[in-house]
Amino acid sequence: MAKASASGYSSIHTWHWDSLRKARRPSRCRRYGHSRRRRNHLRWGAAAFCQQRSSTTSALFGVIIGLALQDTLGNFFAGISLHADRPFQVGDVIVVTQQKLTGVVESITWRAIKVRTFQNHIVLVSNSLAAREAIEVAPRENLNARLVFFNTIYTDSPAKTIHVVRESVRDADNVSDKITPIVRIRALGDSSIDWEIKYWLDDYAKYNDTDALVRQRVWYALRRNGLTFAFPTRTLHIERNVPVRPITAEDQIADRLSAVDVFSPLSTDELRQLAKATAGHVFAPGETLIRAGDEGSSMFVVHNGRVAVQVADRGGPRTVAELTEGNFFGEMALFTGEPRTANVVALEETEVLEIGHPAMKHLFETNPSLAESISWTIAERQADLAKGSTSAQPSIQETAGLLSSIKRFFGLH
Ligand code: CMP
Repeated sequence: MAKASASGYSSIHTWHWDSLRKARRPSRCRRYGHSRRRRNHLRWGAAAFCQQRSSTTSALFGVIIGLALQDTLGNFFAGISLHADRPFQVGDVIVVTQQKLTGVVESITWRAIKVRTFQNHIVLVSNSLAAREAIEVAPRENLNARLVFFNTIYTDSPAKTIHVVRESVRDADNVSDKITPIVRIRALGDSSIDWEIKYWLDDYAKYNDTDALVRQRVWYALRRNGLTFAFPTRTLHIERNVPVRPITAEDQIADRLSAVDVFSPLSTDELRQLAKATAGHVFAPGETLIRAGDEGSSMFVVHNGRVAVQVADRGGPRTVAELTEGNFFGEMALFTGEPRTANVVALEETEVLEIGHPAMKHLFETNPSLAESISWTIAERQADLAKGSTSAQPSIQETAGLLSSIKRFFGLH
């Protein structure tokens, strides 16, 4: 038997044969005095029996080892597949659907994926589990989109809602400017038009903050434009709890306008008339009130809050002036018919009073000195913009030229 022990199988066989020979108990054959031939038969039978037992033992042993290593090996092989396939990478946001787990991948090892949740907890997802689960991946380098929902009442115009909401959301922080947000009707509900905003993010890992900012923008934009959230909504609840300063009554507006230097020549009656013709708007911090290059047919007085006047300078915005309560802006396009010369951005929540072309025309007709003081302010601001300083003085000719173009534009004599 020893000669036949080259293969593993024979070795096991031999080992059992030897151990059989070494057994201390006398063999059954000897005990019962069987013939040599019969004894040989019995020996072979015993050996076969032992061989069978040995195979069973090794199989059992294998099963035990296999069970013990099941997780480790599973993780290891799943880890190999993860490293080979690279379905996600460090920095990607993943959602392990069954586990209801969302977070940013911090590392991928042979054993597990380390995920940092948005509650700043670390969760280790074993590779074998990850291989079994459906995982949603938002790759870091990808333009990933989000959906934010809101609703309006049926009497609000859908076209106006789309325009107002899209414009308010598109320049919010972390909303990508590579794709314009989409505002569309999701459903015509029982008591509301249900909307969704689809927008794309520069950094998807900040989607919670960005969703919140988008909702905030929607709230301000709807309020400013006379659009209404439908009942019942969460916003109605907020409206009750967060007192919103209403745009003040006519007398207060007239008071505010009287403090604006260009309107100081106006009588109390004229100021009241002007107050009647103004419309109040509220803007969120960071919102753009005026965009350079747009057409404009109204000017604004800051009722409360603060805005920055910004011009483009080597790619980035440069602030040329900050305007607060009682200051006005937007008069250049209104009085000259030229496109807006600068961006005006709210630095905090800001209420402005908008005065349109017809109201100004009426004022100019009743009070011709107004055109002169306004033309001086415009000339001063144009000089500031041209020279990049805040105290540039316009020439008499520039001011006179502006006055005559205002007169022409408004049909004054
Ligand atoms: P308009 O061109 O209609 O729109 C942008 C507005 O920014 C502009 O009118 C002015 O009212 C305002 N603006 C431009 N330059 C200045 C400046 N240097 N100081 C204050 N306001 C300015």
